[in-house]
Amino acid sequence: MAEPIRVLVTGAAGQIAYSLLFSIAKGDVFGKDQPIILILLDISPMLPVLEGVVMELQDCALPLLNDIIPTDKEEVGFKDLDAAILVGSMPRKDGMERKDLLKANVAIFKSQGAALEKYAKKTVKVLVVGNPANTNCLIAAKSAPSIPKENFSCLTRLDHNRARSQVAMRCGVPATQVKNVIIWGNHSSTQYPDVHHCMVNMSGSEQACFEAVKDDAWLKGEFIATVQQRGAAVIKARKLSSAMSAAKAICDHMRDIWTGTPDGEFTSMGVYSSGNSYGVPEDLIYSFPVQIKNKSWKIVDGLAINDFSRSKMDATATELIEERDTAVTFLGV
Ligand code: NAD
Ligand code: LMR
Repeated sequence: MAEPIRVLVTGAAGQIAYSLLFSIAKGDVFGKDQPIILILLDISPMLPVLEGVVMELQDCALPLLNDIIPTDKEEVGFKDLDAAILVGSMPRKDGMERKDLLKANVAIFKSQGAALEKYAKKTVKVLVVGNPANTNCLIAAKSAPSIPKENFSCLTRLDHNRARSQVAMRCGVPATQVKNVIIWGNHSSTQYPDVHHCMVNMSGSEQACFEAVKDDAWLKGEFIATVQQRGAAVIKARKLSSAMSAAKAICDHMRDIWTGTPDGEFTSMGVYSSGNSYGVPEDLIYSFPVQIKNKSWKIVDGLAINDFSRSKMDATATELIEERDTAVTFLGV
């Protein structure tokens, strides 16, 4: 058996964590042979609830779960981490945009970035989920200057999975038969779900998405709006933001970081833009198509971008610049 790895989940008493922890603890993310020490961070008033979550994890009697450490202290939570999944923060309510959470949430990610800098391994892989995820991720990365920016990513896999599933339902195939959708930009209503490079396997033959769907108007209109607004639609229906699907996307994202993306396929992740890909400005966490090998991501370069896509990619970048500037004002840095 390998040495156990230390995995932190913040917001561990919340609703996403409740759907997430079992999958991590049973080996779906880091591998079936990888023992885990699970560190569960939440705020002090939530410690009694967290204790219940710990009891349930213990009661699962899972072979890979070496230890569970519940805590409300950053110095305990961030110590010697191999992986950090930063969920803990306030979710939005019906009628809000995710960026309306910036004021409430960005300070958490500044503080936790500083804690990563101080206590975590320099190789730690950090996934930011708490909204607005891209800008929170940027602030966390900036607050941990000795950890490579490439180790930070934010969750747009939920949008990626939503796009994949919408196309699959339209074509009457399982979602596994749809590959290479792309989410560009912000995890917000300006995100651009792009299917120009997407392929659909229809009864054994691979077809370009536009050919398989045979409805350009839908792909350029309703499909995009549905994916952009899906989070809001779930909140309207459930009166709570997505949790089960968010947890599944977190598992997909972290598993791909750990074990790589399948050959010939790419996925979507919010990663640091150094200004060298697709004309996206530098110093943003922007969702790109990426391939992952040996725990390192690489942006898939050279994809053709038409005018329709260009304008949508630019619009979501503009929003991210505004969010970054607002975050800086809130933090007073
Ligand atoms: P929730 O309210 O059920 O749980 C959040 C938990 O975080 C609570 O237990 C709370 O006490 C805890 N918390 C608050 N501040 C903390 C801190 N400083 N340190 C540690 N824990 C802290 O919310 P949820 O439904 O689990 O959602 C969590 C976040 O994830 C929200 O911001 C939500 O918008 C976001 N989200 C993102 C995506 C995505 O795709 N990126 C998807 C779904 C939800
Ligand atoms: C989602 O996309 O479901 C999450 O970001 C939650 C939200 O606020 O929409």
